Parts: sequence; C-alpha cells; structure tokens
Amino acid sequence: MMKSIFFIIITIVLFLPQSTLSRSPTCNKDDEKVLFKIKKSFGNPYHLASWTKDYDCCTWYCVECDANTGRIIALTIFAGSTISGKIPVEVGDLPYLQKLVLRKLPNLTGEIPSAIAKLTQLTMLRLSWTNLSGPVPSFLSKLTNLYFLDLAFNDLSGSIPPELATLKNLDALHLDRNKLTGVIPESFGKFTGKVPDLYLSHNQLTGPLPKSLGYINFSTIDFSRNQITGDISMFFGTNKTIERADFSRNMLEFNLSGVVFPASLSSLDLNHNKIYGSLPAMLTELHLNLNVSYNRLCGQIPQGGDLQTFDTTSYFHNRCLCGSPLPACK
Ligand SMILES: *[C@@H]1O[C@H](CO)[C@@H](O)[C@H](O)[C@H]1NC(C)=O
Ligand SMILES: *[C@@H]1O[C@H](CO)[C@@H](O)[C@H](O)[C@H]1NC(C)=O
Ligand SMILES: *[C@@H]1O[C@H](CO)[C@@H](O)[C@H](O)[C@H]1NC(C)=O
Ligand SMILES: *[C@@H]1O[C@H](CO)[C@@H](O)[C@H](O)[C@H]1NC(C)=O
Ligand SMILES: *[C@@H]1O[C@H](CO)[C@@H](O)[C@H](O)[C@H]1NC(C)=O
Ligand SMILES: *[C@@H]1O[C@H](CO)[C@@H](O)[C@H](O)[C@H]1NC(C)=O
Repeated sequence: MMKSIFFIIITIVLFLPQSTLSRSPTCNKDDEKVLFKIKKSFGNPYHLASWTKDYDCCTWYCVECDANTGRIIALTIFAGSTISGKIPVEVGDLPYLQKLVLRKLPNLTGEIPSAIAKLTQLTMLRLSWTNLSGPVPSFLSKLTNLYFLDLAFNDLSGSIPPELATLKNLDALHLDRNKLTGVIPESFGKFTGKVPDLYLSHNQLTGPLPKSLGYINFSTIDFSRNQITGDISMFFGTNKTIERADFSRNMLEFNLSGVVFPASLSSLDLNHNKIYGSLPAMLTELHLNLNVSYNRLCGQIPQGGDLQTFDTTSYFHNRCLCGSPLPACK
C-alpha cells in the first residue's frame, strides 16, 4: 500500500513539470501585434486565416514560438497564391526570428526590405520562387548567424555584393535563377569561416573568375548557365577537396590538358563551353560523373577507369575527340 502511494507520488513528481513545460507557451503580445500588422500588410489573405484573436498566436499556422519564452522564432509562408504585395517591413520587428521562409509566392513583389537587416538572430533566410526584384542587398551581410541563404528563383538584378563573404557561418548560398550581372566577387575566395556551397546558375554573370577562388576549398560549385569566360583551373589541383562542379553553358576558354583533378571530385560538368586541349590521362584514376560535350577538345579519350562506361553524349560535339566510347581515332 505505502509502496504504491510512494510510486504514485514519484510518478506525479516526475511527470508534472514535464507536462507543464510541453503545454504550448503563451504568445508574446508584442510579437502578436507585429503578426497582425504583417497579416494586414498582406491584405488579410486567406492563407493566414488562422491568425485571429481567438487563438494563442503560438498555435497559428506559419509561425513557431520558443517553447519557454513564447517569442516567435520562425515565420514560414509557403505556396500561397493569396499572399500578395511586398514583404512587410514589420517582419523586422520580430527580434527573435531565427527562420524566415517566404517561398513559392508568385504574387510577392517589390524589393527585399532593409528591415530584414534587424533580424540578427536569423540562421535561415529563404525568399525563393517569388517575384521579388531589385538587388541582392549588401545589408544581408549583417545577418552574421546565417547558415543558409536562399534567394533563388526570383527577379533579382544587379551584381553580387562582395560583403556576403563576411558571413562566417554560411553553409550554402543560393542566388541561382535570377538576373544577376557582373563578375563573381574577388572576396568569394576569402570566406573567413565556413566555405559555403555556391549556387549561382542561370544568371547573366560575366567575366573571368577571380584567381582568389583558388585560395580556399569549395565542395560544391554550380556556376552553370552564365556567361563566364576564361579559366576554372583554380578550383582544382592535387591538394583541393572539391566534390561537385558544374560550369556548363558558359564561355570558358582554356587548355584542359594540364589540369590536375583532385581525387575528391565526384561530378564535373563542362558541357557547352569553348574548352580546348585534350582530356588529362589522370581522369582514368577518378570515380566521377563527367560531361565535356560541346567543347573544342581533341585527341584520344584516355582508356581506362570509368571513362569508357560513360554515354557518348558525355563526349560528343567536340572538335576532334576520339576513341571509345566515341569512334576510333584516325
Ligand atoms: C496572383 O497573381 C495572379 C496572376 O499572376 C492573379 O490571377 C491573382 O489574382 C493574384 N492573387 C492575388 C491575391 O493578388
Ligand atoms: C511573376 O509574375 C508574372 C506576372 O507578372 C507571372 O507570370 C510569373 O509566373 C510570376 N513569377 C513567379 C515565379 O511566380
Ligand atoms: C584543402 O584541403 C586539403 C585537404 O584537407 C588541404 O591539404 C589543403 O591545404 C586545403 N587547401 C586550401 C587552399 O585550403
Ligand atoms: C600540397 O600539399 C603538400 C603537403 O600537404 C605540399 O607539400 C605541397 O606544396 C602542396 N602543393 C600545392 C600546390 O599547394
Ligand atoms: C595544351 O597544353 C598542352 C600542354 O599541357 C600542350 O601540349 C598543347 O599544345 C596545348 N593545346 C593547345 C590547343 O594549346
Ligand atoms: C551531356 O550534356 C549534353 C548537353 O547538355 C547532354 O545533351 C547530354 O545528355 C549529357 N550527357 C550525359 C551523359 O549526361
């Protein structure tokens, strides 16, 4: 008898505090006010219909609260065609926001507001698949906690701000599928913390790449479908650790013969450029996916390794590349 009462008390003591903790927190009133302004600024869209006084704002759709403080830490609005207008400047008044995601919102327009620079707790910023225009703002470099910055699939124009290289915690930078112009900044060879994966494809970037990009080890680079000229050999060499590189559909023009590819390389796409010379023999020592089609390469495809297992389309449309899997050299 005593034993079971003791057990019940122990059970209550063990589980009571936990159940109080797991009860949803009460939303911070300042944050609630800001969310109402955001809803109004978007024109009270159906997508945010759950945002009403009837419920604690920690239970609303598209937001997440800190379990202890009730502060809003995430705002994620995804795939809502009823969301229209500009990004409300009030977004900058959610000081505890760590994650801001506005994604697949075709009627989201205007520029990225400077109010976002106030969100210094942000670790993730995704404004993608929208109709946002204007520049990639340099003030984003103030968001020093960012580990993921995604501005892909928008209408952004202008050049890439060099200041982004000061983001020490960045794992990945997605600026692909915009209308960005100019050259890739020199500073992108001087990321001082982590070296982010760079996705810059489908823009209008021009010019030769800065030599500085060879100073650090990238793991993934996608610069495809731009108008980049010159050479990319700074990414390679025996001491490098690059894994995936896509430079397809640019205007690269250099001699491939002497380039040394590191053993880490698992995917290399160079199709549709003006690359000349021949395929280095050391390619037979690597295990990678390769596409060098539509260039100006010549000579025999080195025999061995994986090189004969690739489809002819990995090699076709070159000036005089020959040998298996292409027709024999003359
Ligand atoms: C969103 O844009 C489409 C056209 O792109 C339009 O038909 C629709 O009415 C817009 N929605 C709102 C809420 O503005
Ligand atoms: C941007 O708006 C145009 C119409 O103004 C529309 O055709 C297009 O689909 C929108 N873009 C996106 C990514 O939704
Ligand atoms: C790249 O990584 C390799 C292997 O860790 C290292 O030996 C080399 O020094 C690094 N190179 C640069 C430029 O940091
Ligand atoms: C590569 O690294 C080795 C030692 O890890 C070093 O001796 C050599 O100078 C490096 N080569 C280049 C080109 O950095
Ligand atoms: C490419 O460089 C190699 C030496 O690495 C040289 O033998 C060859 O002639 C060069 N090819 C062209 C087309 O310049
Ligand atoms: C190589 O790239 C060309 C051009 O984009 C494409 O047609 C071909 O299918 C690709 N081959 C492989 C094996 O991916």
